[in-house]
Amino acid sequence: QTNQSWGGRFSEPTDTFVAAFTASIGFDKRLYHHDIRGSIAHATMLSQVGVLTEDERDAIIDGLSDIERDIEAGNIEWSVALEDIHMNIEARLTDKIGITGKKLHTGRSRNDQIATDIRLYLRDEIDAIDLELTRLREGMITLADREADTIMPGFTHLQTAQPVTFGHHVLAWQEMIGRDHERLRDCRKRVNVLPLGAAALAGTTYPIDRHVTAELLGFDRPAENSLDAVSDRDFAIEFTSFASLLLMHLSRISEELVLWSSAQFDFIDLPDRFCTGSSIMPQKKNPDVPELVRGKTGRVYGHLMSLLTLMKSQPLAYNKDNQEDKEPLFDSVDTVKGCLRAFGDMIPAIEAKNASMYEAARKGFSTATDLADYLVRQGVAFRDAHEIVGKSVAYGIETGKDLSEMTLSELKQFSDTIEQDVFEVLTLEGSVAARNHIGGTAPNQVRASAQRARDTLAHF
Ligand code: ARG
Repeated sequence: QTNQSWGGRFSEPTDTFVAAFTASIGFDKRLYHHDIRGSIAHATMLSQVGVLTEDERDAIIDGLSDIERDIEAGNIEWSVALEDIHMNIEARLTDKIGITGKKLHTGRSRNDQIATDIRLYLRDEIDAIDLELTRLREGMITLADREADTIMPGFTHLQTAQPVTFGHHVLAWQEMIGRDHERLRDCRKRVNVLPLGAAALAGTTYPIDRHVTAELLGFDRPAENSLDAVSDRDFAIEFTSFASLLLMHLSRISEELVLWSSAQFDFIDLPDRFCTGSSIMPQKKNPDVPELVRGKTGRVYGHLMSLLTLMKSQPLAYNKDNQEDKEPLFDSVDTVKGCLRAFGDMIPAIEAKNASMYEAARKGFSTATDLADYLVRQGVAFRDAHEIVGKSVAYGIETGKDLSEMTLSELKQFSDTIEQDVFEVLTLEGSVAARNHIGGTAPNQVRASAQRARDTLAHF
């Protein structure tokens, strides 16, 4: 016989290595608050249906509340022999209140208990992350509004393409993060379903009322099928896929911030508090925060792959494999929260170097498309216009002049339909202002779009 709570049918104790190998207390202790919350709801429901007396319920609730205070005060020693958070807390409850503590697990299994704990935990974390996403989006909208008139080169293939406004670029980021926000909200719906009551796999013979437990814990409804309830981890995979997309976006933004803060681009300044120096090169100011966020993307992708692989081929219902769901999920949550905290602080603090952005946009013949569009308005076919402008650019490369710096007679060499009014479209201001439709880069469109984004977020 062993002293384990499940030791009744065993004839020798668990091997010490096996006990340590199979224990999860090292990481699932993080779930203590949600485990206690779930147990209090379970005991409350059991007393409502007459399985526990009200005195027993009260003793259990008081005992669990004491234990929670002990844990928060650091007065608890977790035991590996007790395997996991559930049995650690239950053993301590029995130490405190005696035999009544042993009644808490009536009509319940660790299988539905852990599934409930992770959902409660993840729901709280989702709500915290939701607030961080709102803060980041607000920061982006504020920055975009402030930089609605700031002209920079827009890129394709990382080559100067057409002038855009910096505000427009920042609102593109806001769209990316807005979709992540929607995905998180959607994921929450499937997290917020109650497994408790499924017991080990088939349900329980006690007259439980799962609607009461669901209501007490703020779940939308009890899970429909007991086998699915204890074995489903889709919600964790959905969360990590949300996290992967979010980190992919943060990584793309990071890459731009890293490039732009280099001397070669010189588009932005990141305040010193988001950067670090070099121990050898005194001149250095390194964009560590965006670099680290870019780097952290890899671990979150890894967690998504871990969870997908963890679940593949698992027969119904609960298998011990599922214990491996926690570390990837916890680390994904921590990583997302850290990255969002850093980004939420850093994004609105970005300082645009307007003159330098403007100069870069002027250098790359970024208004070549505007000249082609001008020719089309004069009646030239687009393909011919393309050819004419191509030749003008070649001339510009040869003579070191931007299109807007050429004289009218220089431009007329390539097409005599060009008149003095061409200079209105060849300026960077004219170019961005002309893209004046919903979704376009014109400053007034950027301001209108920022306002719509603000309204959307306010009602999100
Ligand atoms: N520590 C386990 C887990 O994380 C709790 C459920 C254990 N259930 C069992 N039948 N061994 O999944």
